[in-house]
Amino acid sequence: MTADDSVRLRPVQPGDLPRMCDLQLDPESNSMAVTIPRTKEAFAAHWAKVLDDPGITARVVLLGDAFVGNICCFPIDGQDHIGYWIDRAYWGMGIASRALHLLLGEVTKRPLVASAATSNGASIRVLVKCGFVIEEVRLSPASDRYPEREKAVLVLR
Ligand SMILES: CC(C)(COP(=O)(O)OP(=O)(O)OC[C@H]1O[C@@H](n2cnc3c(N)ncnc32)[C@H](O)[C@@H]1OP(=O)(O)O)[C@@H](O)C(=O)NCCC(=O)NCCS
Repeated sequence: MTADDSVRLRPVQPGDLPRMCDLQLDPESNSMAVTIPRTKEAFAAHWAKVLDDPGITARVVLLGDAFVGNICCFPIDGQDHIGYWIDRAYWGMGIASRALHLLLGEVTKRPLVASAATSNGASIRVLVKCGFVIEEVRLSPASDRYPEREKAVLVLR
């Protein structure tokens, strides 16, 4: 079974949130993404808004029937952004690449924007394989969600 055959997307449902919250708390994943996880309370409040917002496309990533991550398209300041997170147990199997390919078939608006820490080679590779191009590299200041980091801004036009 390859990721190409067996990766599927479906809408995020409230029952997925505890598992998604645990994923975003994983220290190794945060170290790779150079992110600061949300507390359980902040995560619940954030996702209550997301699930209520028809402008956001939020999908669970399934491998066969197993929950392995999530991928979303969400507006920030008038631009449509892409974000994704895969369970560490499933890294390196082509799942994020396939999930992004599937999402790009579902979300047809362009341009789409994605940001990744420049140290996050795997995420940048996933985006480039799906046609995104690095348009800017800049220092991004520390916030409640990120330490200060150098980030690449990639765009699919
Ligand atoms: C980044 C992430 C989504 C990748 O998921 P994945 O399912 O392992 O990705 P894939 O297997 O589809 O593809 C990874 C690609 O990166 C490559 N890669 C892995 N490590 C790399 C590195 N350090 N530098 C460059 N490329 C790298 C792989 O070889 C593969 O490319 P290939 O298909 O050409 O061989 C996953 O590691 C993750 O969720 N990390 C934590 C959260 C995160 O970083 N989210 C993105 C925030 S921008």
